[in-house]
Amino acid sequence: MRSHYCTDIHEKDIGQRVEVCGWCNNSRDHGGVIFIDLRDKSGLVQLVCDPQDSQSAHKIANSVRDEFVLRAIGTVRPRGEGLENPKLKTGKIEIIVDELIIENASEALPFVIGDNSVGEETRLKYRYLDLRNAKAYETFKLRSKASIAARNLLDSRGFLEVETPILTKSTPEGARDYLVPSRVHNGEFYALPQSPQLFKQLLMCSGFDRYFQIAKCFRDEDLRADRQPEFTQIDIEMSFCTQEDVIEVTEALLKDVFAACGHEIQIPFKRMRYKDAMETYGSDKPDMRYDLSMVDVIDIFARCSNEIFSSIAKDKKNNRIKALKVPNGDNIFSKRQMKGFEDYVRKFGASGLGYFQMKEDGLKGPLAKFFEESDLEEIIKVCDLHVGDAVFFGAGAKSLVLDYMGRFRIFLANEMGIISQDAFEFLWIVDFEMFEISEGKVKALHHPFTMPRDLDAPIDEMESIAYDIVLNGVELGGGSMRIHKKEIQQKVFSLLGISDAEAHEKFAFLLDALKFGAPPHGGLAMGLDRLMMLLTKSESIRDVIAFPKTQRAQCLLTQAPSLVENEQLRELGIRLREKPKA
Ligand code: AMO
Repeated sequence: MRSHYCTDIHEKDIGQRVEVCGWCNNSRDHGGVIFIDLRDKSGLVQLVCDPQDSQSAHKIANSVRDEFVLRAIGTVRPRGEGLENPKLKTGKIEIIVDELIIENASEALPFVIGDNSVGEETRLKYRYLDLRNAKAYETFKLRSKASIAARNLLDSRGFLEVETPILTKSTPEGARDYLVPSRVHNGEFYALPQSPQLFKQLLMCSGFDRYFQIAKCFRDEDLRADRQPEFTQIDIEMSFCTQEDVIEVTEALLKDVFAACGHEIQIPFKRMRYKDAMETYGSDKPDMRYDLSMVDVIDIFARCSNEIFSSIAKDKKNNRIKALKVPNGDNIFSKRQMKGFEDYVRKFGASGLGYFQMKEDGLKGPLAKFFEESDLEEIIKVCDLHVGDAVFFGAGAKSLVLDYMGRFRIFLANEMGIISQDAFEFLWIVDFEMFEISEGKVKALHHPFTMPRDLDAPIDEMESIAYDIVLNGVELGGGSMRIHKKEIQQKVFSLLGISDAEAHEKFAFLLDALKFGAPPHGGLAMGLDRLMMLLTKSESIRDVIAFPKTQRAQCLLTQAPSLVENEQLRELGIRLREKPKA
């Protein structure tokens, strides 16, 4: 229906007849001549409906309202002297219309397109209108380019795109499953996949060698700004590979994806051991855009005269005393502010937060009196303090201290405004621990199919061949070498407290596959939504998903989830224990 998209019309087209289609962005009547800004996916062009040129077009233009769907035929001409609009791509020209067709009318919209002051609930209810703005289109254009770049790179490296089932059996990734009742097998349920993990491993057993999928995954978990119940992974798996191969392909893929979206990134990325990340940054996904890090001062605090610190320092295995240096912190923050930071860390279980200020004549602060001069000197040395710096201390149980000091690090960076918004800082976290042990319960830090480095190591020290890719403090993806031998898989299940009977019930197909010649294999999955959120500097993952769910896992547009007819429940053999709220 069109000869050009709106912004494809240039000065070189002056004098040409064109046909354009789109929506009325706005219209105005200037002394009997009607001007319409016509909008399509490319942007705006100005239509001019002058009764002197076409009575009928002018008459129709008179009845046009915002968001009417229009088709216009006319001639391109330069805008008058002084009437050019440098803000528009088409600001030097306009179309003098001789035929205007209203393809469809529109009622007044619930909000003005592109008005960011409108509440998110309203925007999500009318998401198709919310997506009419140029920024949204740009976001989804980049998302499409990113997917295509990923596909092309993987195709060029010999990866085969294979679709795996959505109606399946539970694939444990640590969240709750979404269940789908079976009509044919009353009382039985499918689970939606939390990831294609087990199927991609089975494809390696089939000899497919290199698999990928841009896969939908479903997890019923607490939602945050970077989580959705339904999300997309760029999922890969390779046979006869090492961790290095997976890392190399991932870096090449990210380089191409970023290039497709207009950003040049440097590969290879830095790497850090899991243990070092936790001890230095209090996180397994540290944001490397700023230089704040922690050092261990437990040995120095062991010698201080404060009972609390010296007793914490007695158990070096389970406790930590960490110092977080803030360059120039004493000049930036007042004493009152420094004391106030204690309230922040208390929210995360800290019992207090000590600090020192580095003055011309040495370390000062409420804790100084507990230390010998030589130990204060030692603190200055290990923390590398200079006049004007501040240093904060967290002391207590290891996991607690690392957690709240890690959060405090991010909090400070935000307070100080030192996070570079333009930077993309990638980091590989490697050499993960195999298990997470808390209150006697053993959980897989990645998933139960991850290869341990040494199965004979003590359970609380066992490392896995697993790796995460982190971007600007967000976990972008994770992967591992997999267990490809049945005995090792059974041993890991048993360490996780999964009985033989349960392992058989849940994973018989995997254990079977492992005994029929499974090759060594490994892979990784990256969250495409998270990647696009970071790439487009969006505040929420919802901005990069066409039809997202709210924090309460609802789709406000379709009103899902919703009640169903009794008849449908009966067919599925389901009776609700409580009457649903209407
Ligand atoms: P993992 O569980 O670490 O690994 O997931 C990989 C990546 O998927 C993204 N992601 C999410 N994105 C949005 N909303 C969510 N609820 C959500 N959950 C996860 C993250 C995450 O880093 N099968 C393994 C991968 C493998 O070992 O190959 C897996 O799924 O960006």
